[in-house]
Amino acid sequence: TDGVLVDRYGRVARDLRVSLTDKCNLRCTYCMPAEGLPWLAGPQLLGDDEIVRLVGVAVRQLGVTEVRFTGGEPLVRPGLVGIVAAVAALTPRPRISLTTNGIGLGRLAPTLRAAGLDRVNVSLDTVDRERFIRLTRRDRLADVLAGLAGAASAGLTPVKVNSVLMRGVNDDEAPALLRFALTHGYELRFIEQMPLDAQHGWDRSAMVTADEILASLASAFTLTADPAERGSAPAETWLVDGGPARVGVIASVTRPFCGDCDRTRLTADGQIRNCLFATEESDLRGALRSGVDDDELARRWRAAMWGKQAGHGIDDRTFLQPTRPMSAIGG
Ligand code: GTP
Ligand code: 5AD
Ligand code: SF4
Repeated sequence: TDGVLVDRYGRVARDLRVSLTDKCNLRCTYCMPAEGLPWLAGPQLLGDDEIVRLVGVAVRQLGVTEVRFTGGEPLVRPGLVGIVAAVAALTPRPRISLTTNGIGLGRLAPTLRAAGLDRVNVSLDTVDRERFIRLTRRDRLADVLAGLAGAASAGLTPVKVNSVLMRGVNDDEAPALLRFALTHGYELRFIEQMPLDAQHGWDRSAMVTADEILASLASAFTLTADPAERGSAPAETWLVDGGPARVGVIASVTRPFCGDCDRTRLTADGQIRNCLFATEESDLRGALRSGVDDDELARRWRAAMWGKQAGHGIDDRTFLQPTRPMSAIGG
């Protein structure tokens, strides 16, 4: 059986985001509380072979061409390198990327590259050590910087940096972050904070908006339209001081891009989410463990995507934040 992951609005999902764990070695204040969260239990998690089987169904039978591993923090999953190698061995071979906080990447980058990883996106919200400690509750800025450098020298390029700006915390740091990224040849993207924190403390009026970020950057740089086609990318990009360097803004809240969404998500416990903000999930783990064949898994995955909502609805009066936080969904 063949057939792509299409929804009733005609969007086709070719980009699969796989969360490998809900755990993390940082505690970013906008993501999780200091004490962490009630983590998924061992038997709830998909095993390495189960993940590879499901990704195989996606690329062979569902037309998925891009696979991104996320978390929590994917580098804390012991089987990561083996999973990447097994996914790189699939036919057709998907492009493979990783979204990580960068801790441990300095050491692992060459191994991941050799296993078949193509590129990485690294989260970094500040280049100031004291701020980093306040923001992530851990003194690991040096590890993240080493991770970025290791990724670049291993050829996991383009290396992208994701920054979430928070009012009164790091909202004055946009130009400094861009200067840092330009110096090292990383592609920086600023992200509007979304209502996906475990503490449910998101506040629309406290959110630093794309307009504010662009105004702040304009005080130090000249931004012009990027001629490159955006496609279904969440980031809108600009050339910095005439290019070729670029900077991006992922304005999920004030400039939503749901109409062009090409994502499907697999959580660490084997649930298909057709949207970050979906209110329901489809249980592929149960199906897999009950012994169904690949065709049946593909059929269920298609059914899960067909019902995808038109948009996230953050501005709707009836909006409800998903019960699962970002760290359990995979971002
Ligand atoms: P690239 O392929 O490099 O452009 O990756 P990406 O930006 O899609 O992925 P990344 O994991 O770096 O995510 C950056 C930010 O975009 C995170 O805050 C994600 O939660 C957000 N993001 C990714 N996919 C979606 C999506 O489908 N909808 C929304 N609203 N945000 C998304
Ligand atoms: N809104 C937007 N981005 C978030 N991230 C984590 N939580 C949120 C949120 N509530 C970012 C991380 C990482 C990426 C995967 O998502 O900083 O860069
Ligand atoms: Fe970890 Fe990412 Fe959450 Fe920070 S935002 S605590 S790096 S999962």
